[in-house]
Amino acid sequence: MKRPTPPIQWVDDHIRIIDQVLLPTEVRFVEIRTAAQAVDAIQRLAIRGAPALGAFGSLALVVALDETHPSSLSEATTRLEECRTLIGDARPTAVNLRRAVDRVIDEAISSSQDLAGLRATLLREAHAVAAEDEAACTEIGRLGHELLRDATTLGTHCNAGRLATAGTGTALAPMYAKAQAGEPLKVFASETRPLLQGARLTAWELEDAGIDVTVVPDGAMASTVLSGQVDAYIVGADRIAANGDTANKIGTVSHALAAREAGIPFYVAAPTSTIDTNLPSGEHIEIEQRDELEVHEMTGKRITPQGVAAANPAFDVTPHHLISAIITEAGVLRAPFEGSIADALTRTGAP
Ligand code: MRU
Repeated sequence: MKRPTPPIQWVDDHIRIIDQVLLPTEVRFVEIRTAAQAVDAIQRLAIRGAPALGAFGSLALVVALDETHPSSLSEATTRLEECRTLIGDARPTAVNLRRAVDRVIDEAISSSQDLAGLRATLLREAHAVAAEDEAACTEIGRLGHELLRDATTLGTHCNAGRLATAGTGTALAPMYAKAQAGEPLKVFASETRPLLQGARLTAWELEDAGIDVTVVPDGAMASTVLSGQVDAYIVGADRIAANGDTANKIGTVSHALAAREAGIPFYVAAPTSTIDTNLPSGEHIEIEQRDELEVHEMTGKRITPQGVAAANPAFDVTPHHLISAIITEAGVLRAPFEGSIADALTRTGAP
């Protein structure tokens, strides 16, 4: 399998990303040299997906520091504290962003004696965030591959692949592992209105990898599943509460309900960095509300009558009882999730 261009690259002194808003029609790179450019890229979804947001947000701290040319350690510390909010809060639902930004800033501030050391620690820790995510994706791929050994048709929603992580993806990692092993595989990717991450991004990256992918309108997925054409679902996550309730792209819960009705497994794949045990259950997860215009328009054209309202929640919460298992790099977690999640976090040494 050829190695595709990674969605996030550190080039000399700045970040280069693929502008995911333009995919699949155009593969254009965007150079990120300032905090404002980083926040803009996050908010307009040029870079997106929970683990990718963590990796990108960490690197964004380095460019955010460099652009202000601090002349002392205390000026640099003030700038990083500013960025904790500016970059860490650019989108609220994916815990990976908040957590990675806090981790990198805390490590740099607590362990550096001078400016050069601070910058070096920021960059090293940011690269570590990405490297850990890459390793987690590989392990999720291996474990998911074992779990899905007998499944030949898989359903997925949104994009939880290479474009959304620093590795082979979460939900898509087992698909790459199956394809690599030469096993038969067909993927149904739901289009994911309003921003079409399934139709544009999942279809693009799976097709690029030579995997058989069929795009299905969101409204047609339930009947596809109920007609017996899908063996199992696998989706990603933006934040998983202590009891296993999972926030993921809007529409995910309807896929989970269809899976239950059809009697097929519904798997969530996510690194442990997406688990937030500070939140006991899903109702505490902040759901990003996006601009109504994304619903009113399609590819820049108005599709709703002027004057009507639109709601645009970016995520929903799938209750834990609809989830068959959560595939993490620390193992395949099953109900009761409070216990299996706590054990997994102990294994990873998470604080
Ligand atoms: O709004 P997006 O495109 O950032 O939403 C992404 C998702 O919901 C993904 O499924 C999730 O972040 C997991 S990515 C490995």
